[in-house]
Amino acid sequence: MQKYSKIISTGSYLPEKILTNKDLEKMVDTSHEWIIERTGIESRHIANENESSVDMAYSASVNAIKNANIDSNVIDMIIVATTTPERKFPSTAVLLQNKLKNNKAFAFDLNAACTGFIYALDVADTYIKNGIANYVLVVGTEKITSLLDWSDRNTCVLFGDGAGVAILGSSNTPGIISNTIGSDGSYKDLLTVNTDSEVIEMSGNDVFKIAVNTMGKLAAETLEKNSMTIDSLNWLIPHQANSRIINAVARKINLPQEKIIMTVNKHGNTSAASIPLALDYANSNNLIKENDIIMFEAFGAGFTWGSTLLKY
Ligand code: ACO
Repeated sequence: MQKYSKIISTGSYLPEKILTNKDLEKMVDTSHEWIIERTGIESRHIANENESSVDMAYSASVNAIKNANIDSNVIDMIIVATTTPERKFPSTAVLLQNKLKNNKAFAFDLNAACTGFIYALDVADTYIKNGIANYVLVVGTEKITSLLDWSDRNTCVLFGDGAGVAILGSSNTPGIISNTIGSDGSYKDLLTVNTDSEVIEMSGNDVFKIAVNTMGKLAAETLEKNSMTIDSLNWLIPHQANSRIINAVARKINLPQEKIIMTVNKHGNTSAASIPLALDYANSNNLIKENDIIMFEAFGAGFTWGSTLLKY
């Protein structure tokens, strides 16, 4: 019998400390009004000095495991999407496995920047479909504020920390309907963290334009590939970078505003954690119903991009 993968639970974690636009006004030459108008961001969570991407991933995973009502030892694969690992090695996924006292899974990290969670879902789906794994813990976790130059107003107002998790289980019915991932390394310098500077450098305007065009095209192609129209879609859960990017993509595909899950106002851009954080927000607020058709969509440094279409 054909196997599919289905999201059986979600979980998330946001650090306690909240940094508002008013707080940022005291740090750089900016204003609450500018940030709201250009990005839609009101506040973001910031991990404390002793809190790592592993700690945040652990809290979100415990939450998801409890929601799934499973023992952590049934998880046979762990993938962590992150650009901010606690150590160069061992991987964040292995450190997470140890904290969860899991002795069954194989675990590894994946870096596709802000598209990391979509790439990780694609890998998890493939392993489940091929009968190699039955329960996969898919994590997006970022302490992305550790990569910020707090004196650069072009970047420091945009990002926040957090972790989100989806547990995928093997199922006889879909589940994940289709995945599309892509990349183009010729854009490597438009959004980057170089090893000599260790801070985010970005050409904001270029990123904005290419993100809107790529994500608009990708959403339309994803629907077409699966013989669906925009009316078939119950929810779009996009990467939460900027509400202007999200709204521009929605206009391109004629998607009504009320079908979009938007958390960027309270989370900022949490890179690989943004989609699972938004998913868990929608899930815990009972916005998503069984059998809803949902599209995840992301774009990030590389450039990388990807979409997942699924039945909840
Ligand atoms: N506060 C006040 N003024 C600012 C700030 C700030 N925080 N940041 C920049 N400005 C100024 C600029 O210096 C510039 O001033 P100037 O005209 O005197 O030179 C002016 O505002 C306009 O700057 P632009 O860069 O043209 O502003 P834009 O409307 O493009 O908005 C932004 C900037 C928000 C960064 C936008 O380009 C953007 O969102 N780009 C996408 C970036 C992104 O999301 N990256 C994340 C990773 S990729 C992804 O996740 C999709």
